[in-house]
Amino acid sequence: MTSPVTSSTLGAFARDVLQGLSADTPELNSKWFYDARGNALFKQIMQMPEYYLTEAEADIYRNCAAELLQAIGKGTFDLIELGAGDGSKTQLLIERFLADGATFSYRPIDLSATALAEVRELIELRWPTLDFEPLEADYFEALDRLGKSNAGRRRLLLFPGANIGNFTPGDAVALLGRIRSFLKPGDMLLTGFDLKKDPARILAAYNDAAGHTANFNLNILRRINRELGGNFDLSCWRHWETYSPDTGAARSFLVPTEDQKVTINTINRSFNFRAWQAIRVEVSQKYSLREIEGMADAAGFNFVRHFQDRDGLFTDSLYRVGG
Ligand code: AVJ
Repeated sequence: MTSPVTSSTLGAFARDVLQGLSADTPELNSKWFYDARGNALFKQIMQMPEYYLTEAEADIYRNCAAELLQAIGKGTFDLIELGAGDGSKTQLLIERFLADGATFSYRPIDLSATALAEVRELIELRWPTLDFEPLEADYFEALDRLGKSNAGRRRLLLFPGANIGNFTPGDAVALLGRIRSFLKPGDMLLTGFDLKKDPARILAAYNDAAGHTANFNLNILRRINRELGGNFDLSCWRHWETYSPDTGAARSFLVPTEDQKVTINTINRSFNFRAWQAIRVEVSQKYSLREIEGMADAAGFNFVRHFQDRDGLFTDSLYRVGG
């Protein structure tokens, strides 16, 4: 007997695709970019000259460790990372924390098992005795599993890489508020935000000449084909990027160059795409320092300070739970 495809029998990816592509303006959430191939493509993005974000945050991580430790105070703490990526930047911080004699555990959280396996390899090689426990889950599932911090032990949450930029400003505040609910007085949150700057520079970071970003974004269609039995013809889709300096939103779209019908077996559905009617795929929101300070209040944190790179392109901003 075959069972009907209901959302409860589908995986999270399938459910999200079904819902997103059924909307009036079709949409695919960029959190699904990161399968093994997506991770590899994102690494290429991080290395290209136009994508200034990675080096800017590395510059910050090389310089903020001592002040972070001072803010955390004495005693063992948990270093929890939301969205570990490949963990190469966090190494910079861990290195300096250890050099300063800090004692802490490291708990990276990521949806991608591949990404976590890479972090594990790296940590076991460099610091085999570090208290290390990765969690393969989405942020809230993982925070739920970790539970509230125990009284004696501070938490430092890292939310690096401008991953918060993938949420609209309203959703970002809601997300920060939820993160806040897992924390106790004295716990801290360090979030990477990309800053508003020359629109040409921002646009170029998401619209590179070599086409790495296009390839990365189109990979979500490839993933649907492979994991959900879809038949997207990638040669009929183009990457399109916009940046609005008023709202600070960089947005990417996948645009079909001709009418087409796409069938996705796992969800038992076909979708008719009309030429030039885009699928929304990603927002990479840019902020001002003022806006970031306001978000701390709105989410129930106390704003502590910004750590910026030498060129002022990016900030890792420190919030603290008061009381
Ligand atoms: C990993 C979410 C920070 O939005 O800048 C890079 C992803 N997309 N180029 C970003 C991305 C296209 C990136 N984040």
